[in-house]
Amino acid sequence: MNIHRAIMHLTTTAALSGAVLFLSLPVLAGLPAESDVLIDFDAEWRYHDGDEDLGTAWKQPDYDDSDWSEGPALLGYAPGNRGARWPSPHLQTRLQESLITYYFRKEFEYAGRTDGVRLRLDQIIDDGAIYYLNGEEIGRSELMPDGEIGFGTEADRFTNPSVEQDVFEIDVSHLREGRNVLAVMVANHTAGSSDICLGVRLSITKDVQKPAALYLTWQRDPTTTMTIQWHTEGPDDEVMIEYGPRGGEDLSRTEGVSHPMVFSDRHIHTVELIDLEPGSNYRFRIYRSEQGQSSRFYAFRTMPAEADRPIRFAAGGDTRTRKAWMEQTNRQAVRYDLDFIVWGGDLAYADGREENLYRWYEWFEVNYNTLIDEDGRVVPIIVGIGNHEIRGGRYRGEGRGEEGYEDTDAFREDIAPYYFNLFAFPGHPGYGTLDFGDYMSIILLDTDHAGPVHGKQASWLEEELTDRQDVPHLFPVYHIPAYPSARDFSEYVSGRVRQHWVPLFEQYGIRVAFENHDHTYKRTVPIRNNEEHEDGIVYIGDGAWGVGLREVHSVEDTWYLTRAESVRHLILVTIQDQSQDYKVINEDGDLIDHYIPRPPNQ
Ligand SMILES: [Fe+2]
Repeated sequence: MNIHRAIMHLTTTAALSGAVLFLSLPVLAGLPAESDVLIDFDAEWRYHDGDEDLGTAWKQPDYDDSDWSEGPALLGYAPGNRGARWPSPHLQTRLQESLITYYFRKEFEYAGRTDGVRLRLDQIIDDGAIYYLNGEEIGRSELMPDGEIGFGTEADRFTNPSVEQDVFEIDVSHLREGRNVLAVMVANHTAGSSDICLGVRLSITKDVQKPAALYLTWQRDPTTTMTIQWHTEGPDDEVMIEYGPRGGEDLSRTEGVSHPMVFSDRHIHTVELIDLEPGSNYRFRIYRSEQGQSSRFYAFRTMPAEADRPIRFAAGGDTRTRKAWMEQTNRQAVRYDLDFIVWGGDLAYADGREENLYRWYEWFEVNYNTLIDEDGRVVPIIVGIGNHEIRGGRYRGEGRGEEGYEDTDAFREDIAPYYFNLFAFPGHPGYGTLDFGDYMSIILLDTDHAGPVHGKQASWLEEELTDRQDVPHLFPVYHIPAYPSARDFSEYVSGRVRQHWVPLFEQYGIRVAFENHDHTYKRTVPIRNNEEHEDGIVYIGDGAWGVGLREVHSVEDTWYLTRAESVRHLILVTIQDQSQDYKVINEDGDLIDHYIPRPPNQ
């Protein structure tokens, strides 16, 4: 699949670097048509600027604020007439100058429904703010530090008041019918700061477009790119992602491409964002020019430029024969703040058949419901191919035989219609390498499914390994295991993997390979030349993310196994600098195995 992209136009506001920043927002100007403003920028607020520690009671809805002062926003102070140049409605209420902590409270009534709506908060803040709705924190502005906030907490740095739109997606469950109280603490960076400002618009909008599916992956270096894919029911003439640094104002737009989903009325949309900053948080939404029709904001983070922080991903395979099983393991996985998930084949168990379309719908539904955290961050996925992506399981299956195989996109799309249709990576010919800077590479391989293990793929693998001998974390991920834990050691494809790939793995310094397909958990001893060897490769996995389990071979009687268990699980991999760490978590969240390989060359 060719994923085209075009940068449409960039940047809606100036960067935050200049001293003066009083800009309007051409792109996001105005609220969506169907929104109700609950608190507007010029609202009357109760405020306390008495330099007094009010503890935590002040944010509670029942707190008695009757002795606080009152005045319309914007509230704050600034030298001379500078407040008149702040965004509309400009400085209206002057506060006591040169404090660190200012308290504000605003009561409002809400009588509408709380389903199918979302709360949105726009702000004009200097320097930092933390927001509480009915006593619960609902968000803090970018310059507010993490952790406990209290009287005297300083903002991280100076800023200037400017309109920041749609700063927080707020869970509507915090909203009550009837009386509500929004409480805000505003913090100066230092008492010597020349200004402070509060202005808030809280509004409620009709639920915006929710895509039928949404998933993130990569086609190129995950330190600087992100590929966003989503589905809509029916075609769509607008394919646009609007994105920018999280917590900032800047938004850019990138246009993508669409194609129909096989056997379905859905259309699949793909946008690749490029030239991103490594190790950075971004927000994005599916943009529509019609007001109120964009999606909510989601978020992602780019991978760091170096492995100088712990990088954590989950590995596994065989994800869904039962929706509830997949959902359960997904939920365990996302507890670990993953950078991504890699699944080595047998995804939805649709077998390339039209009548199993619903399995893909379920698969994407589970991922939408589990891989997006409460702040909207989406965990990216990298997906390999397995036998259940293929009609007949193998390129020569369904009686096609070796002579029926064709090394063409058309042949592969015929036998694996969903896999090549749904995922931007790896695309044709069904295998590919993803390089994370120069510290990690994931090599997705195809164990005889869309094409053969031997020949072209094996030659390609040797080239990829040759080119990556200096990469400290080099991981092959594939479906059928070289060292099976449930099926027979003499199984045909396992033998082919041992014959055509394992010698290359050994020659080019692979430390760990991820295997699947057997519906168990297994870890092998280090293996070299098909025997236990202290400088050998450990084969880990065996594919039981969300499937029924099989019986395992006896560890005592199987020379290559050191662990084998019939258990649904995920493998939590952490790399940092040269080190690797593998924790295996079962579907109940228990740690069932922990493996730390010896660092290389020691
Ligand atoms: Fe399989």
